[in-house]
Amino acid sequence: MDRIPQDPPATGRARRNRDADWDDWPVADYLAENYRRLHPCDIGVIRHHSAVYRRFAPGALARTLELGAGPNLYPLMLAGAAGRAVDALEPSAAGVRYLREQLTRGIDDSWRPFYALCRSLDPALPEDCAEALRRVRVVRGTADDVVPGTYDLASMNFVAESVTEDFGEFTALCEAFVRAVRPGGTLLAAFMERMPSYRIGDGPVWPACPVDETALRSVFAPRTSGLRIGRVEKDLTLPEYGDTGILLLTAEALTAEAQAPAPA
Ligand SMILES: C[S@@+](CC[C@H](N)C(=O)[O-])C[C@H]1O[C@@H](n2cnc3c(N)ncnc32)[C@H](O)[C@@H]1O
Repeated sequence: MDRIPQDPPATGRARRNRDADWDDWPVADYLAENYRRLHPCDIGVIRHHSAVYRRFAPGALARTLELGAGPNLYPLMLAGAAGRAVDALEPSAAGVRYLREQLTRGIDDSWRPFYALCRSLDPALPEDCAEALRRVRVVRGTADDVVPGTYDLASMNFVAESVTEDFGEFTALCEAFVRAVRPGGTLLAAFMERMPSYRIGDGPVWPACPVDETALRSVFAPRTSGLRIGRVEKDLTLPEYGDTGILLLTAEALTAEAQAPAPA
């Protein structure tokens, strides 16, 4: 396969998802910049997400999805009490390799403070992180591979806005995320706020689509109920990605009745 150039083309056209080589996602640099220690923003996201999972009794969710899981383990940890089976869907060969290695060989020590925080917020999580992660199955694929209505809960962290410069494509990714759950299913997401295309380390530029709360409302309000959007302040301990913070979303997919057209 021809190698796709990573830097923005001279034409200035919006770079789409397929224009980037996701197999080459720089896992080591991404982990070093974002997840080798617990940053204040992680604490904010984990607190928010944990409160959603705590709504459910242990084992209440037959199947959950982590869409675009990448090498981030904390969303998978958080799902480990309420979820009986957790699909970590990820297209990148590098991301899949890292996840599979963590699940089979055991997690890097740098993830232990993340699990300690998850468990302090949700005591239903098992004492052993490996036990929580035993429910996770790594699946190679993209948002296009999600079978609609499969999941009780879908989670997506820093994906739809961080993988394309095209707002239409951002919307389509969010639609696939919403469709992943059964009617009434739970949606849980985090988005970088107003982040332009970005570099990890001194690598190439990755395509992103700056979104704010208004953009999220315009995409999610017509497709969901109970939409709530919160924020975490910009984290100055992270590299400068050009964002203004993190937006946190919860909602429910519309029920079959709400989707049906009103009788004439
Ligand atoms: C910025 S990273 C976020 C990773 C992780 N979710 C996290 O919380 O750090 C974006 C991820 O989306 C994945 N991705 C790219 N295109 C995708 C697509 N079309 N469908 C699903 N995931 C995609 C990338 O491979 C990468 O792992």
